[in-house]
Amino acid sequence: MTFSQRHLLGIEHLAPAEITAILDLADDYAALNRRADKHGDALRGLTQINMFFENSTRTQASFELAGKRLGADVMNMSMQTSSVKKGETLIDTAMTLNAMHPDLLVVRHPSSGAVDLLAQKVNCAVLNAGDGRHEHPTQALLDALTIRRAKGRLHRLNVAICGDIAHSRVARSNILLLNRMESRIRLIGPPTLMPAGVADLGCEVYGDMAEGLKDVDVVMMLRLQKERMDGGFIPSEREYYHRYGLDAEKLALAKPDAIVMHPGPMNRGVEIDGTLADDINRSVIQDQVEMGVAVRMAAMDLLARNLRDRRAA
Ligand code: NCD
Repeated sequence: MTFSQRHLLGIEHLAPAEITAILDLADDYAALNRRADKHGDALRGLTQINMFFENSTRTQASFELAGKRLGADVMNMSMQTSSVKKGETLIDTAMTLNAMHPDLLVVRHPSSGAVDLLAQKVNCAVLNAGDGRHEHPTQALLDALTIRRAKGRLHRLNVAICGDIAHSRVARSNILLLNRMESRIRLIGPPTLMPAGVADLGCEVYGDMAEGLKDVDVVMMLRLQKERMDGGFIPSEREYYHRYGLDAEKLALAKPDAIVMHPGPMNRGVEIDGTLADDINRSVIQDQVEMGVAVRMAAMDLLARNLRDRRAA
């Protein structure tokens, strides 16, 4: 079997064939999700626990729906960040949950690396739903599926990732995935919002939207992550929108059939014009949400197959 992972912690660990395996299965689940009867049984009898140590609406809902559509028993635990005293408490929580015999643990945590640490302590499959500024693998996979369905391929595309790259786990996972699938990536944003070591990421870096967007196939906008900023990264939101916000005028520099993406939640009028975000001729933002459920069904299905094989061995 192509997909041999025990956990889904990051794109970093996935081979191109494994990425393709998830996307192919997700295409099938996208078709299932459009039917009146949306039920599969790939996770029947299994218990899925969603542990979100950070606020989330769409990702948590998406994982919950994905699990339920495939027949898992799904439990949501919303953990308040303030009551978590890092390291020890996280492991204690993991051990407590582990004693309840979950099969799939979906974890979001504000600290980079926390999900990897947790995965070492439990004997079920762990899925990273976003850890700090590190990775958000299912987001990159759903973005890839959305791009592949719109453009017919993932290789030899010019993809612009714009805005707050420094604080974005979405950007990191997308860079890893798109590099691995042989697309060309341009990072566009102010120098203050570029991560340290940006030159080593294998991307072209632009400080100017007009230059960076020229002839791209995909424009991926990122949310300005104010909650992760502790100083003056931008002069003002108005100035930021003027220089880096995506509107019809800036989009006109990309290819005429370029698609517009955003992982959500959006700051309308800060990183993207609201009318453009809603323009179904250009924006695939709703498709991203739809593909999110399908990708999470596929990822959990593949992990559950490996889990069952391991237990049977
Ligand atoms: C992203 C996240 O949480 O990293 N959102 C999401 O998963 N829906 C991006 C963001 O918060 O801007």
